[in-house]
Amino acid sequence: MKQYQRILQNSGISEAFRKKTFENFEPVNPKAELAKKMAMEYVRKFEQLRKEKYNSIAFLGQVGAGKTHLSIAIANELMKQGVGVLYMQYREAIIHLKQNILDEIYYQDEIGRYKMASVLLVDDLYKGKVTDADLNIMFEIINYRYLKGLPIIVSSEYTIDKLLEFDEAIGSRILEMCRGRIVEFEGIELNYRLRA
Ligand SMILES: Nc1ncnc2c1ncn2[C@@H]1O[C@H](COP(=O)(O)OP(=O)(O)OP(=O)(O)O)[C@@H](O)[C@H]1O
Ligand SMILES: [Mg+2]
Repeated sequence: MKQYQRILQNSGISEAFRKKTFENFEPVNPKAELAKKMAMEYVRKFEQLRKEKYNSIAFLGQVGAGKTHLSIAIANELMKQGVGVLYMQYREAIIHLKQNILDEIYYQDEIGRYKMASVLLVDDLYKGKVTDADLNIMFEIINYRYLKGLPIIVSSEYTIDKLLEFDEAIGSRILEMCRGRIVEFEGIELNYRLRA
């Protein structure tokens, strides 16, 4: 119980986000149903998966399709199993890191959290204007995790092609890590926020 509390506290996942679960994720269309299945299977198999080379999962594409919801639902379940997860709101985290780049000790500490977390949830990858400095930071984090075989859960409004266009080195590592577990949502009708 104590350990679970500590995991929750360190995750950076807000109270509101704790409510994003599999139970309240409705299979409103075949794509949502497939994504939910994949997410639940990921949790079920995680202890085995984490030892494997391709041990990550990605939810890409259409805004409002439930990418963050499912990513957080996975994180919530993993934390219940005693696995540490760190939530990284991409835009906020990058801004914060860049603001502190001159404070070497603090910076290494901060970026080190993202590099070394047992599981890293990158939410809204490449949201906003992306600069070379942003890409350098992401490369450092992703490459470290790639080399160490540390799992990532990725949500991004960009699809596979776009991820590779932003930066092939980062994109191809992410895609390799998530091999076999990438959901691409396509079509505005999948936007849950706009449901009639
Ligand atoms: N299938 C679903 N069942 C229940 N709630 C859903 C479902 N899909 C999305 N939602 C809800 O709709 C809202 C939008 O979903 P979410 O934030 O996960 O979308 P997203 O794909 O991450 O969008 P964005 O690209 O804007 O970040 C959230 O409140 C989420 O809980
Ligand atoms: Mg989102």
